[in-house]
Amino acid sequence: MRLILLGAPGAGKGTQAEMLTKLYDIPCISTGNIFREHISKNTELGQKAKAYMDEGKLVPDSLVIELVKSRITQDDCKNGMIFDGFPRTIPQAEALDVMLKELNIPIDFVVNVEVADELIIERMAGRTVCPSCGASYHKVNKPSKVSGKCDLCSADLIQREDDKAETVKKRLDVYHEQTEPLIEYYRGQGKLVDVDGVGAVEEVRDRVKTALGVK
Ligand code: AP5
Repeated sequence: MRLILLGAPGAGKGTQAEMLTKLYDIPCISTGNIFREHISKNTELGQKAKAYMDEGKLVPDSLVIELVKSRITQDDCKNGMIFDGFPRTIPQAEALDVMLKELNIPIDFVVNVEVADELIIERMAGRTVCPSCGASYHKVNKPSKVSGKCDLCSADLIQREDDKAETVKKRLDVYHEQTEPLIEYYRGQGKLVDVDGVGAVEEVRDRVKTALGVK
C-alpha cells in the first residue's frame, strides 16, 4: 500500500499516520519529522530547514525532493509507505510521480483530511510534542498519562516552535496557497479520497478506514 496523507497543518495527518503504519505494517515518511531530527542533530540540512520552518515557510523543493528520493529506496519501503506532509507543492508531486514511475510503484490512495482553519488554530494551541522521541499529544484531546511527560520515554513535553499562534496563521496561508492545489492534482489522477477530519480521533480513523475499503 502506498498512501499520501494530505491536509492542512494540524489536520491530524500524523495522528492518522500512526494508526495506518500499524494497520499496514509499513513505514511513515514524515518530511517534517525528518527535518526535526536533522535540526536536533544540528546537521547542515537541519540548519537550512530550521530557518524556513521557524517562519512557517516551506523548505525549498530541491532539499525536500532529494531527501525523499533517498528515503523511498530504503529496504523498509519495499512493501509500501505512507507519506505524511509530502508532497506539499505541485513540483514536489510531479517529482514524486517521476520517482515512483521509475520504481514502477504507483500511489494507491491520497487521503485528504479536511478540517476548517478555526479548529486547526485551536488544535495547534493545545499540541505538545516530545523533543526526544517525537510523540505528539494534545492537552485536551490526547493528554499524556503524566501531565507534561512523554508516555513513551518520560521526557518533558514542549510546544513546537512553529505552533505559536502567529506562525500557525502563516503556515495556514502557505497551505492554502501552495499545498491546496494538490487536491485537484490528485483528484485528476482519480486517487483522491476526502475524509472529514472533524470529530474524535477514533471517528476520523474509522472514516479513513472506510475510505480505504478496510473492513
Ligand atoms: P510538518 O511536521 O509536516 O507539519 P504539518 O504538516 O504542518 O503538520 P502537523 O504535524 O503540524 O499536523 P498534522 O496534520 O500531522 O496533525 P497532528 O496529527 O499532529 O511540517 C513542519 C514544517 O516542516 C513545515 O511547516 C515546513 O516548514 C517543513 N516541511 C515539512 N514537510 C515539507 C515539505 N514536504 N515541503 C516543504 N517543507 C516541508 O495533530 C495536530 C494536533 O491535533 C495534535 O495535538 C493532535 O493530538 C490533535 N488531533 C489530531 N486529530 C484530532 C482529532 N480528530 N480531534 C482532536 N484533536 C486531534
